[in-house]
Amino acid sequence: MTMKWKGWALATGALAFSATAMAAPPSAEMISFACAGCHGTNGGSAGLTMPSLASQSKTAIVDAMKKFKSGERPSTVMGRLAKGYTDADFDAMATFFSKQKFHPTTQAVNAAKVKKGEALQEANCSRCHLEDGKEGKDDTPVMASQWLPYLQMQMDLYQSGARKMPEKMAEKVKPLSKEDLDALLHFYASVK
Ligand code: HEC
Ligand code: HEC
Repeated sequence: MTMKWKGWALATGALAFSATAMAAPPSAEMISFACAGCHGTNGGSAGLTMPSLASQSKTAIVDAMKKFKSGERPSTVMGRLAKGYTDADFDAMATFFSKQKFHPTTQAVNAAKVKKGEALQEANCSRCHLEDGKEGKDDTPVMASQWLPYLQMQMDLYQSGARKMPEKMAEKVKPLSKEDLDALLHFYASVK
């Protein structure tokens, strides 16, 4: 057998392998085990700095994973984690988490801020953060019941410019005061 022949056999072997990998991606549930330590079983956050993924739209999750992987969205851990997965994995994870039931939380919020935030949400944010933030339009993440420290951390990243706001969201956020934004986050945290 010539070297040329062996090379050909190797190449077809590799092709056959990748074809198998594409036909049978790891099950979504299997992949989601890698996320459970932080995002909880079935996507309900296990800690104050972690968002719940349950009931987020598929697009929102895939979009976030791609931005973490490319470095466009700043992160403490997700950037490193996302690098270990392919687009097909993102698709499977996102499908799994989007089908899980909304995860309500009970947290200490300031009642006056919640009331003020509710009116601000209706007037400024409800076009994309639908149903009091329980649903998201297209690539918009779920805001309702996310932990206040997580929401505050993300708002700080937006305000510092480290995380880029969608243009249409920036138009609504920029005119608001620090107190307004704080009230909005208290409102979202309170929604169940
Ligand atoms: C070690 C803890 C940890 C693990 C494991 C983990 N995450 Fe995360 N995840 C975080 C943290 C913390 C954030 C907030 C961004 C940051 O600082 O990294 C986050 C943010 C996210 C977001 C953004 C959600 C939003 O509302 O904007 C998505 C999507 C996400 N993670 C998906 C996953 C998936 C899918 C897995 C499993 C493959 C996973 N994460 C595993 C800690 C973790
Ligand atoms: C035009 C649609 C739109 C409007 C209006 C909008 N948002 Fe958003 N929001 C988004 C999208 C899309 C994302 C995810 C963007 C990204 O990848 O950074 C997001 C993300 C967020 C996040 C981060 C959540 C997370 O889990 O990562 C916060 C906080 C937020 N928005 C607050 C607000 C507030 C407060 C308002 C109203 C003053 C508002 N948004 C108005 C579309 C919008």
